[in-house]
Amino acid sequence: MSSTPPEPPYPQSVFANKLTDHSGITELMDDLGEALTIGKDSLRMMGGGNPGHIPHMQRLWRKQMQALLDGEGNEFDRVLADYDQPAGSPAFRDAVASFLNKEYNWELSRDNIAITNGGQTAFFFLLNRFAGEMAGGGEKRILLPIVPEYIGYGDQGISGSGLFDSRKPLIEMIGERRFKYRIDFDNLDLNDSHGAIAVSRPTNPSSNLLTDGEISKLRELAGEQGIPLIIDNAYGLPFPGVVFHDATPVWDENIILTLSLSKLGLPGTRTGIVVARPEIVREIRSMTAIIGLANNNIGQALTRPMLESGEIKHLADEVVRPYYRNRSEHALQLAREYLPGDVPWRVHDIEGAFFLWFWFENLPISCRELYRRLKDSGVVVVSGEYFFFGLDTDGWDHARQCIRVSYTQPEPIVKDGFQILGEVIRSAYGVD
Ligand SMILES: Cc1ncc(COP(=O)(O)O)c(C=O)c1O
Repeated sequence: MSSTPPEPPYPQSVFANKLTDHSGITELMDDLGEALTIGKDSLRMMGGGNPGHIPHMQRLWRKQMQALLDGEGNEFDRVLADYDQPAGSPAFRDAVASFLNKEYNWELSRDNIAITNGGQTAFFFLLNRFAGEMAGGGEKRILLPIVPEYIGYGDQGISGSGLFDSRKPLIEMIGERRFKYRIDFDNLDLNDSHGAIAVSRPTNPSSNLLTDGEISKLRELAGEQGIPLIIDNAYGLPFPGVVFHDATPVWDENIILTLSLSKLGLPGTRTGIVVARPEIVREIRSMTAIIGLANNNIGQALTRPMLESGEIKHLADEVVRPYYRNRSEHALQLAREYLPGDVPWRVHDIEGAFFLWFWFENLPISCRELYRRLKDSGVVVVSGEYFFFGLDTDGWDHARQCIRVSYTQPEPIVKDGFQILGEVIRSAYGVD
């Protein structure tokens, strides 16, 4: 791809400028698409958060699709030939609310559930709902109490001078090869300029799983400030359930929780779920209607029976989590095998999600250059600097020494990828 894009053919609006500038998520999705299609014989996709094709889940989606085709009544025709309501299918929203009530004793009804075209769209709506230029004057920002944070939020702001106000983490070194991030509560400085607090749990990219204690402190602080706590549960509990430590899901009227069917294995259906107080659900439904009329409804139709029967929980616990736990352990073994022993590499504690988050201390090149060299050698990863947005990283070397490596692709691809990573790292540090 050319490094200098052509000039836009017509003058750009602010909207166009914001959404067409170079962005990490666009690069990531282009790379992911390339590596999974035209480049699939030459590129190993260890960049994006595509879920693995878990055989059990693949069989199940086929079965669900067949049941939809063969089912009594005309549900299949309705799914394909009718627009959904903008808040989502009432039956699916009922099923989500009942399922969560049963699991966690929450008191939700369908009025607490809004469907969006993926969690990404949910975040576009939510971040711009709570921050940017405010209708009553002035600007607000989203407080990210800890970065690195999900690359996909970084360029979603439409108005104002910057959507995020982010905080560096405390970094705990563990042994020779591990580390862990924690929220630095002493430096949070939550104030009137913040419109909401947002976190992903587990966090993409680091896989850090904020503890129940950290979440409860954030909840308290958000409540005192009168702003919501937005929790992105794309990999979390109860589904897809890609968490490897204990964690308690929480919800109350001051929390906005987002879920997605993507990491369960259905990214192509574009199904996000927002759990929020009814006023926010009504706003999300209005945004969906204005921007896209309705949502894709195929994911809702495929998974509703699994929510109604509770099977989705069993699948998350017995199939999805063990699959990714095994894959993560295997990836870590490959790292130990192929990364040079005399280089000071570390990996974040693996607490969930689909990634190993590597930190190469004293890396002689930038992580962006490392990404380029890896891509030239046939491996796509994600350069770490994109995950440190919303703060000035000048003088903070850590923000230029990390990469995110996904381990969800078939094992031979991941093995080759680690072998190449080992060689490229060796050459970057100049060791044999
Ligand atoms: C933390 C996090 N949030 C949200 C998303 C958006 O996913 P989707 O729009 O497919 O639901 C992703 C995708 O990778 C993610 O990692």
